[in-house]
Amino acid sequence: MAIGILCSGGDSCGMNPAIKSFVDYVYANNETPYFIYEGFEGLIDNKIKKAEHKDVAGILHLGGTIIKTSRSKRFFETKYRKQAFENLQQHNIDKLIVLGGDGSFKGLHVFAQEFPINFIGIPTTIDNDIYGTEYTLGVDTALNVIKDALDDIRDTSSSFKRAFVVETMGRDSGYLTAISAITSGAEICIIPEVAYDLKSIKTRLNKELEHGREYILAMVSEGTKKTEQIAKFLEKSIDIETRVIVLGHIQRGGNPTVFERRMAHSFIINAVDKLLTSSAIQNICVYTKNEFKFMDTTSVVSQPKQLNKELIKQIEFMTK
Ligand code: F6P
Repeated sequence: MAIGILCSGGDSCGMNPAIKSFVDYVYANNETPYFIYEGFEGLIDNKIKKAEHKDVAGILHLGGTIIKTSRSKRFFETKYRKQAFENLQQHNIDKLIVLGGDGSFKGLHVFAQEFPINFIGIPTTIDNDIYGTEYTLGVDTALNVIKDALDDIRDTSSSFKRAFVVETMGRDSGYLTAISAITSGAEICIIPEVAYDLKSIKTRLNKELEHGREYILAMVSEGTKKTEQIAKFLEKSIDIETRVIVLGHIQRGGNPTVFERRMAHSFIINAVDKLLTSSAIQNICVYTKNEFKFMDTTSVVSQPKQLNKELIKQIEFMTK
């Protein structure tokens, strides 16, 4: 039996550990692992190769993905999906593991309705924005990268009397920002899911500055598009010298954390076992309540993930 693996959408730490576990575990089950390079783009262009142990030696500690990824526009067109299916058939690959996010699973969902493919999707994005799973591969390392950056920013921020506005990724989700605001002790947290009130923030900060606060850290989600507004507010209304830092793509890099490596391995073991023991399967492997489970793709792609209510409660005081 041949099983293929591909990465789709934004790369994230955890992809390489997952790829290594995939090759080792598929061979351990006396089956043949295949790499599909460059995501769905590579699937269309037949960039498919049998994977060897040597391909995955020394990759576990690396961010990114050695088999590359893409955001394929062509995969939205039927003729290219047909081409992709024919390429899988040519290599006798009848089972697939897709490491990707919401957009990738939507493409996969359409593909699976047209062609008889078996697949398991593994949620892999720094955004942690996929319905049905509490955790997506890559988010833990991204949070640690942000934490390290904020610790460094604090060194310079505390040396002056300054405010720093730090913009984090996450697309429409405020998860990265909210967790980072808590773990780095921010004074302000602006995320798409929660309304904020500059008037009350002003009253609070002025009081804190009167009582000796030396510097201010404001965390803002990219999805709010409010980074500049918050910076202007701090300069003009709070009268504190302000600097803006957009953390950007450094949040996607780094050395996968222990947790990420462990989770990558567990996701792969669960996914491969499921593929080997099922005759027709088109599911997403999710992690919830400390357990790995399988959800049908329709449920995962048709519902937006809501930010945990408890988390919202915990950051609300930073929004007013
Ligand atoms: O989905 C992951 C993510 O890093 C988002 O947080 C961000 O909005 C987006 O990808 C950036 O995409 P790109 O790498 O295509 O610029």
